[in-house]
Amino acid sequence: MKIALGCDHAGFRLKETVKEYLQGKNIHVYDFGTFDESPIDYPDIAYTVGKSVQDGKFDFGIIVCGTGVGVSITANKMRGIRAALCGDTFTAHAAREHNDANVLTMGARVIGKGLAQDIVDAFINTSFAGGRHLERVKKINIYEEQGHE
Ligand code: RB5
Repeated sequence: MKIALGCDHAGFRLKETVKEYLQGKNIHVYDFGTFDESPIDYPDIAYTVGKSVQDGKFDFGIIVCGTGVGVSITANKMRGIRAALCGDTFTAHAAREHNDANVLTMGARVIGKGLAQDIVDAFINTSFAGGRHLERVKKINIYEEQGHE
């Protein structure tokens, strides 16, 4: 499993803990930054991580900003990206099982390190259920194409 990581200044510290956590599990992570708490614009990092997933270079992306909202909105503008803002493990599990989410976003000003780790576990360890959920994801793809017209 290969995971692309990213954050803005508000998400820097939590992103670092997520990175250490995943590396401790011998999961391959690539850190697209940012690398300190100097202010940056969250759309830039969300696009970079989203593109790496869109291009098939990574199985999942994980992006952290202050709320998780800005990076989620940005990533969800990208064709084929299904970004899920998660603040609990149930949502993280369902986002994979039902929505085949390929990007997890979290808010560093909202949740702590322990919950973030549990959310990451729930997200990366859950498979897409397919079946009726696949039919619904296909509809997302149809509306996505219409939205790009
Ligand atoms: C940065 O202040 C903050 O706006 C950003 O991290 C994020 O929460 C935006 O959605």
